[in-house]
Amino acid sequence: MSLEERIPQHVAIIMDGNGRWAQLRGKERAEGHMAGVEPIRTCIKAAIKHGVRYLTFYAFSTENWGRPTAEVEALMELLCRCIIQETPELKAQGVRVRIIGERTRFSERVRSFLDQIEQETAEGERLTMVLALNYSSRDELRRATQRMAAEVAAGTLTAAAIDEQCIAAHLDTAFMPDPDLIIRTSGEQRLSNFLMWQAAYAEFYFPEVLWPDFTAEDFAHALEVYAQRNRRFGKL
Ligand code: IPE
Ligand code: IPE
Ligand code: MG
Repeated sequence: MSLEERIPQHVAIIMDGNGRWAQLRGKERAEGHMAGVEPIRTCIKAAIKHGVRYLTFYAFSTENWGRPTAEVEALMELLCRCIIQETPELKAQGVRVRIIGERTRFSERVRSFLDQIEQETAEGERLTMVLALNYSSRDELRRATQRMAAEVAAGTLTAAAIDEQCIAAHLDTAFMPDPDLIIRTSGEQRLSNFLMWQAAYAEFYFPEVLWPDFTAEDFAHALEVYAQRNRRFGKL
C-alpha cells in the first residue's frame, strides 16, 4: 500500500520534554514550555500538508496541577497568550479548535479564552486541532459515568442500553474518531492517563527528541513509521 493510502486520520501527541529541554540550557522550565509552541505550529502545518484530519495535543493533564504554582501559572498565561496570538492564523488555515478535559477548574478568564477560540474557529474544515486541557482519561470516564447514571436516574437511558457506543458517545472525544497514531516525545514510553479508552488499537511511536526540538521532518518520519505498521484489530 502506498504511503498516501496509509495516512492516519487522527494523530495524538503527548508533548513531553519541555522541562528537560530548558534544564539542559540552564533556563527556567517555563522557557521550555514557551519553546514548545513552535513545534505545535509546525505539526499543524505538517498535518494539513499530509492530509491528517484530527490532531490532538496533550497540553495539560489533571495531574499537572500538582506542579509548583509558578509553573502552573506560567502555563496558564502561555495558553491565554497563544489563543490571542494564534487564532487569526488558525482561522486562515481552516483549523477548527476543540478542547477536551474538564473546564470548571480553570479560572473564568482562561475559560472565556477557551470558549472564544472554539467559537471563532468553528467553521474550520481542513483540520480539527484538539487541545487536551485539565484532561485525564480516568477523570473523563468518571464524568461520562456520572452523566450516564444521571440519565438512567432520569429515565432517558436504561442500564441495558449502555454499550461501547453509548460510553464512547459520553466521552469528551465523542465528536472524533479514535487516534490511529500516538506520538510521545522525550523517550518516555507511557500514556500518563491520556486517551486510554480511545487508544485501544492505536499505534505508538516514541521518538527520543524533546518536544521543543520536534520538527516537520520528525512528524513526517512518524507518518512513515505508521505507514509500515500492520494493524490487525484482533483479526487475521
Ligand atoms: C511537557 O513537558 C509539558 C507539560 C506537561 C505541560 P514537561 O514539563 O513534562 O517536561 P519534562 O518531562 O519535565 O522534561
Ligand atoms: C504528560 O506529561 C502530560 C502532558 C504532556 C501534558 P507528564 O510529564 O506530566 O507525565 P509524567 O508525569 O512524566 O508521566
Ligand atoms: Mg514530562
